[in-house]
Amino acid sequence: MAEETKVRTYEPPEEFARDANVDDASIYEEAEQDYEGFWAERAREMHWFREWDRVLDWDPPEAQWFVGGKLNVAYNCLDYQVEQGRGDKTAILWEGDEPGDSRTFTYSELKSEVERFANVLKGLGVEKGDPVAIYLPMIPELPIAMLACARIGAPHSVVFGAFSADSLRDRINDCVAKVLVTADGGPRGGKVTPLKANADEALEDTPSIESVVVAQRSGEDVDMAEGRDRYWNDLMDEADAECPAEEMDSEDILYILYSSGSTGKPKGIVHTTGGYLTQVKATTKWVLDVKEDDVFWCQADIGWVTGHSYLVYGPLSNGATTVQFEGTPSYPGPDRHWDVIERNGVTIYYSAPTVIRAFMKQGTEPIEKHDLSSLRLLGTVGEPINPRAWEWYHENIGKGRCPIVDTWWQTETGGIMISPLPGLTTTKPGSATRPFPGIFVDIYDEDDNPIEGAGKGNLVITKPWPGMLRTIYKDPERFRKTYWERLGDKYFVEDGAERDEDGYYTITGRIDDVMNVSGHRIGTMEVESALVSHKAVVESAVIGRHDEDKGQAIVAYVILEGDREGSEDLIKELKDQVRKAIGPHARPEEIIFTPDLPKTRSGKIMRRVLRGVAEGEDDLGDVSTLADPSVVDDLKEARS
Ligand code: PRX
Repeated sequence: MAEETKVRTYEPPEEFARDANVDDASIYEEAEQDYEGFWAERAREMHWFREWDRVLDWDPPEAQWFVGGKLNVAYNCLDYQVEQGRGDKTAILWEGDEPGDSRTFTYSELKSEVERFANVLKGLGVEKGDPVAIYLPMIPELPIAMLACARIGAPHSVVFGAFSADSLRDRINDCVAKVLVTADGGPRGGKVTPLKANADEALEDTPSIESVVVAQRSGEDVDMAEGRDRYWNDLMDEADAECPAEEMDSEDILYILYSSGSTGKPKGIVHTTGGYLTQVKATTKWVLDVKEDDVFWCQADIGWVTGHSYLVYGPLSNGATTVQFEGTPSYPGPDRHWDVIERNGVTIYYSAPTVIRAFMKQGTEPIEKHDLSSLRLLGTVGEPINPRAWEWYHENIGKGRCPIVDTWWQTETGGIMISPLPGLTTTKPGSATRPFPGIFVDIYDEDDNPIEGAGKGNLVITKPWPGMLRTIYKDPERFRKTYWERLGDKYFVEDGAERDEDGYYTITGRIDDVMNVSGHRIGTMEVESALVSHKAVVESAVIGRHDEDKGQAIVAYVILEGDREGSEDLIKELKDQVRKAIGPHARPEEIIFTPDLPKTRSGKIMRRVLRGVAEGEDDLGDVSTLADPSVVDDLKEARS
């Protein structure tokens, strides 16, 4: 990154290191010598109905972890915690959109809610193996529904509450869910998202859905279809209190989560039971250093993988208190996060670079109003953090006392892969540092040869890991092609990375056609197909332009039909079209009308040129391979 020249390093503070969950660096070597043994030791810290016969069967690209083992994720997160004396301990500390609006659930209370809702699902005909679609705001009913699915062995498919009706419809149809769990509306930042109305639109074209459960959160009137839609509370009142946990095979599906890739169709990433829980439990304990007295706040939405792994399954399987926050960082004021931390005594705060950069812009006044002395560890995830934001976070939020863990991972990896261990690792701002023990990564050059020592290239994961995705739902061929075709038995990450002389990794960003906007993964093709579905558009090319705050901003180049002229109204229409097709987070920042696109002679769009134009660069590099180099001038003119 151009902004810093000298790299400052940060040792773990002595006091922190003394009490950290891991304080012995020899675990790296131990795990390297016998990684199966290392992961088996982590798995033994969980509850199994039956121990596994073999730790790993690896027939690339198919991995099976803890083969023959039987366990239940909800049992691990609830019953096992109660058995260990945490029945009266707070499991979920929920804070609503309005300050002071809160609900708490002890482990015993959460267990009863989950058992009851598991019976509700059974009563609606959900059986082991049947996917359940969940489209809820950030309310406790969301983790309750997920854990209820896990309890009866029904894979859940959580759809982020800001996704549009069209996105919800496609996700329901892809996994052929019989039941949808939703809510009337979701308050966020003082506004309400009409979830049930969106769901009703999606449900016009989802033939598999037989029942809809509607949680009441915003209290507004909603249409209830006779015979199909029932209120959460009515169903809970009628349900039996006890529901034993199913003994699941280690390789049974725990969940499906859709994520963007290089085509217009999102991928249904499949995670299974034993390996996934092993990795999220171990990384929550070792990287996020969660202990008995911690109040742990992962501020991601549960609709994304970070919320699945580090708001729900990681903390609960460790018996921790996890904070679930419904609101936004800026409502009702710019100090809302600091207010949540102070009032709830948050000790560990796991956030995202885009949020940190937004705070930076506001200056330190909102922070100074609050006592943040409860904090002891900070984390970041989702996109590269620039060193200046890292330093700001360290100084202003951590007050120089709290280590920062910059954690690199993906929906596909299930859990954290590259990260400092806060009691052991000397950190360098901007670097995710070293792979977690038992995880093996490397960087390869363009010809797919490993790079020795320091260098820059494509990130590769060289050995299987327990939390890895097992397939793309109903599309094993896409799974093989996307991640394994290139290197055979090694996972091709689709991120660029740099390794320094200390073996530290800095992730430089995606190398495929996926954008990262405020930590949200959005495929360029998804946005392009939304745009070309407008009758005025004949072709479109979308790129992510560098953006100080959001990491990337979406810029769409659009060719209009015939002699149609671009206008402000059309720009708005097109932006709305994308919002409707995907969701508000995918709305383009800029629409540029152009007569042509920069294509090679073989018809491939040169996105590098489009990015250069959008970023206002004068020198666009070598454009001699373009079929028609004069397009470049047209593009520059279109943008000015
Ligand atoms: O490009 C990397 C970036 O986010 C991508 C994964 O996005 P998603 O599957 O939505 O999961 C996000 C939460 C785990 C990666 O391919 N990314 C994630 N964490 C980091 C990161 N880039 C740099 N540094 C990170 N710490």
